Amino acid sequence: MKELKPQVKVGILGGGQLARMLALQGLKLGLDVHVLSARSDDPAAQVVRHWTQGNVESSADLKKFFGKVEIATFESEFLNVDLLSKATPRGRLEPKPKLMGLLQDRLTQKQLLAEHKIPTADFMAVETEADLLKAWSLFDGRLILKKRRFGYDGYGTFKLTHPSEVSKLVKLIENEPSGFIAEALIDFDRELAFMIARSRSSDIATLPLVETHQENSRCLWVKGPSRNPKAKQLMKRFAHVLKKIDYVGVMGVELFETAKGLMVNELAPRVHNSAHYSLDALGCDQFTLHWLCLLGQNLPKTAALRAPGFAMWNLLGSCEREPSWNLGDENLNFHWYGKSENRPGRKMGHLTALGSTPEKALASIRKSRKSFAL
Ligand SMILES: Nc1ncnc2c1ncn2[C@@H]1O[C@H](COP(=O)(O)OP(=O)(O)OP(=O)(O)O)[C@@H](O)[C@H]1O
Ligand SMILES: [Mg+2]
Repeated sequence: MKELKPQVKVGILGGGQLARMLALQGLKLGLDVHVLSARSDDPAAQVVRHWTQGNVESSADLKKFFGKVEIATFESEFLNVDLLSKATPRGRLEPKPKLMGLLQDRLTQKQLLAEHKIPTADFMAVETEADLLKAWSLFDGRLILKKRRFGYDGYGTFKLTHPSEVSKLVKLIENEPSGFIAEALIDFDRELAFMIARSRSSDIATLPLVETHQENSRCLWVKGPSRNPKAKQLMKRFAHVLKKIDYVGVMGVELFETAKGLMVNELAPRVHNSAHYSLDALGCDQFTLHWLCLLGQNLPKTAALRAPGFAMWNLLGSCEREPSWNLGDENLNFHWYGKSENRPGRKMGHLTALGSTPEKALASIRKSRKSFAL
């Protein structure tokens, strides 16, 4: 492994929980972590010494920030790519602005998958009422409509299985500047995910396959490691895609497990909720891995598991009461993001547990989380 120079000045665009965990793990590596975000009480702003107040959508603020850091990354792919390309010195933002553009748009993301023959739900672009009607008939009245950009946690996705829902969505479609895609609704058995990482040195690593469970289109828990006979092959194919597009950093791959095999749901060009378990369950977590990629380090080849099973549970906010917790359970790892506002459904923190099987790890969180007032 190449020597890691501590004190490298690294930057993070954005100040939410992903930025906070990136910052904390970066600090552990001895990096000089800078954060650009709007408010001093943002989750990531609270944990770094070098916080720059600013707007990630302002050219002047970006230029100022890049004057302070050698290399930077982001916690959300939904930034203004044109502005970023102009304001970012070449080679100093990873993944690259061009790839952010390719992956932030569900249509071009799907086209990339199709180009590399990676199975995904059939799709078409939808901009008008006529397109929607066409999609309705193409997908036999079972489809999901997704905003091409800015969707997350189910915001911007609409399931359609009844004709009355079609007419309700027409206005929405015509008023959405970035457009929609329609996808065939997939009958899946489970939702799975994995992380793949590519270093600037071209080294590749993958983290274990996990099962994710969504409620109201929002991730509630993750357990693993999971098995699927086709996963290794798919991971290999992704290694090839990442090389082809010169991707640097970690990428989250969300999957559907179906009777016909694995299908990709979507890609996230950044650290991802489905791999938060890695902070406590693996020898090298996803945030550390991301920094190693940016710094051109070789990557750990095997993701050393700290236990045969692990699980993660998202602590979603409620406006009814403030959280309280009992940290007496030594098998439970508690992560709180320090958000100033506790809103219903908002990701406020997460719990992880280890166990002799994935199921036992998940069961131990279920039991312990009763003592959490969230
Ligand atoms: N084609 C599909 N068929 C069946 N279910 C789907 C399909 N697409 C999405 N879903 C369901 O909706 C959930 C959310 O969809 P998706 O992951 O595409 O959007 P998102 O709101 O951007 O979520 P994220 O927060 O993961 O970015 C999925 O995890 C899955 O449960
Ligand atoms: Mg998703």
